[in-house]
Amino acid sequence: MCGIVGAIADRDVVPVLIEGLKRLEYRGYDSAGIAVVDAGRVRRVRRTGRVSEMEAAAGAEGFSAQLGVGHTRWATHGGVTELNAHPHVSHGVALVHNGIIENHEQQRARLEALGYVFESQTDTEVIAHLIDLHMKDAGDLLQALQRAVAELEGAYALAVVSHAEPRRIVCARMGCPLLIGLGEGENFVASDVSAIIQATRRVIFLEEGDTAEVTRAGVRIFDQRGARAEREEHLSDVSLASLELGPYRHFMQKEIHEQPRAIGDTIEAVMDEGAFGAALFGAGAEQVLEEVESVQILACGTSYYAGSVARYWIEAIAGLPCSVEIASEYRYRAAVANPKQLVVTISQSGETLDTMEALKYAKALGQERTLSICNVPESAIPRASRLVYYTRAGAEIGVASTKAFTTQLVALFTLAATLAKLRGRLTAAQESEYLDALRHLPGSVQHALNLEPQIVAWADRFAPKHNALFLGRGVHYPIALEGALKLKEISYIHAEAYPAGELKHGPLALVDADMPVVVIAPNDSLLEKVKSNMQEVRARGGELFVFTDQDSNFGESEGVHVIRTPRHVGVLSPIVHTIPVQLLAYHTALARGTDVDKPRNLAKSVTVE
Ligand code: G6P
Repeated sequence: MCGIVGAIADRDVVPVLIEGLKRLEYRGYDSAGIAVVDAGRVRRVRRTGRVSEMEAAAGAEGFSAQLGVGHTRWATHGGVTELNAHPHVSHGVALVHNGIIENHEQQRARLEALGYVFESQTDTEVIAHLIDLHMKDAGDLLQALQRAVAELEGAYALAVVSHAEPRRIVCARMGCPLLIGLGEGENFVASDVSAIIQATRRVIFLEEGDTAEVTRAGVRIFDQRGARAEREEHLSDVSLASLELGPYRHFMQKEIHEQPRAIGDTIEAVMDEGAFGAALFGAGAEQVLEEVESVQILACGTSYYAGSVARYWIEAIAGLPCSVEIASEYRYRAAVANPKQLVVTISQSGETLDTMEALKYAKALGQERTLSICNVPESAIPRASRLVYYTRAGAEIGVASTKAFTTQLVALFTLAATLAKLRGRLTAAQESEYLDALRHLPGSVQHALNLEPQIVAWADRFAPKHNALFLGRGVHYPIALEGALKLKEISYIHAEAYPAGELKHGPLALVDADMPVVVIAPNDSLLEKVKSNMQEVRARGGELFVFTDQDSNFGESEGVHVIRTPRHVGVLSPIVHTIPVQLLAYHTALARGTDVDKPRNLAKSVTVE
């Protein structure tokens, strides 16, 4: 979703802003713009569409300056128009904003009564006028910003420049991430470290309610009460290679193929320990995890499906009741709380607003045992949680999540085994069996990736279809859901997933020769049941595309196509069976010519409701 970058230097910052915005493109956006302060005036360029179009316009108009801010916007308040694109300007004050201002209507009415004229339908323009209003009495940009944000309700990350103050950027954060990048004689502001990684790795994460002043020489940070605050400096380990495509055609393809490495890195801590244990989840984890009576998982999208797999593991391995809920549902429900319940949030980005709000709600209900499974260090959700397990997938750029999902599953399996051990339910033999399974997992995933040529052949048959059905049972049912989600997200083919046993209660009515039915049918205890469900499809003329294992006892026949992973890997099978459904979605989208990495209407990080 929206992205922010800002820079102050003694060189031209326009290329820095443009490169930063290009690195933010993956988050999803529909317009882009920059504003610079040049020779005592604010110059601005905005365009709907790609950053490259805005870049061309800035080039044509000869933009060059040593101070500026830029933004990629994903429309919420007001349509995709140039007038609604950021930066918004009020009498020489220019700003970019991530988040949503909830009291913007009241503020708009008040400002209009004072004579301010609005040119956009956004909530953001209110902030520009409000800062301008306070500039009149404060006479100082930072103070004007501090007074303005005190009147705002909602969420914001803000970076502001003014023609009156050409030597600083001021910024503020509440509910949306914002960080400051420290260079040599130049400094930066960004919503995401990837936007400035080409310039510096030294970053300071602002905390909730902070405001800050960024000059070429340094940074001054103030807390919510306006008192000077010290915030720790971090060295980001985001690698430039993870932000670049290399030999691949799409980030999604690259990220699918990175999974053996990503999983290997994510299990490293477990392998180093040679055991499951509370310490893997951070300091003080033993106290948090012991005496846990149940587990509540909260997440959105693909992360929710990871949680849905984990429910099977946590109940079967740890013997704990586990529920999984979509974060946006949980946060508005009168949920029954239990202080001994472990609340697990799963989020690739660590900044999904609904997941964050669900976590806050769970805590407000008195549930302090919180654990975040997250891929982005220092992001908002792990910072709001007692415990954290970082997946080490590396930056995920493709909007459709792939390596984040499989590494989340690894983390969740580790959690299930650890909870089992703490509860005395894991024998030494089982522990070493599970550790062995994890150790071999990167290899098994690589074998599944080797199925790609066979899957490409299937994708050509899927490309002309309008609908598809995915079936799975037990722990593989969420993999069917994830397969259907991947296919609809990037190929725009309508796809639904059902537990195979539910077929006869409705979806069977949809089955005909035009409806491909994908079945996740590993060689586990439910295989015979799944085979009966497949018969139900065949009997209605449906065409089956079955992912199974080498050792399962059925083969191809008319209308039944089969692709086999080399062998059934036992308890970690859902991870291995994720790979073929990712590849099927990717190659089907490729055959249909869609924009695989930036599917229409979707965003990578959903920072609004
Ligand atoms: C968006 C992304 C999905 C992701 C979901 C949850 O919808 O497009 O890929 O699964 O958000 O994101 P999170 O960062 O919280 O895992």
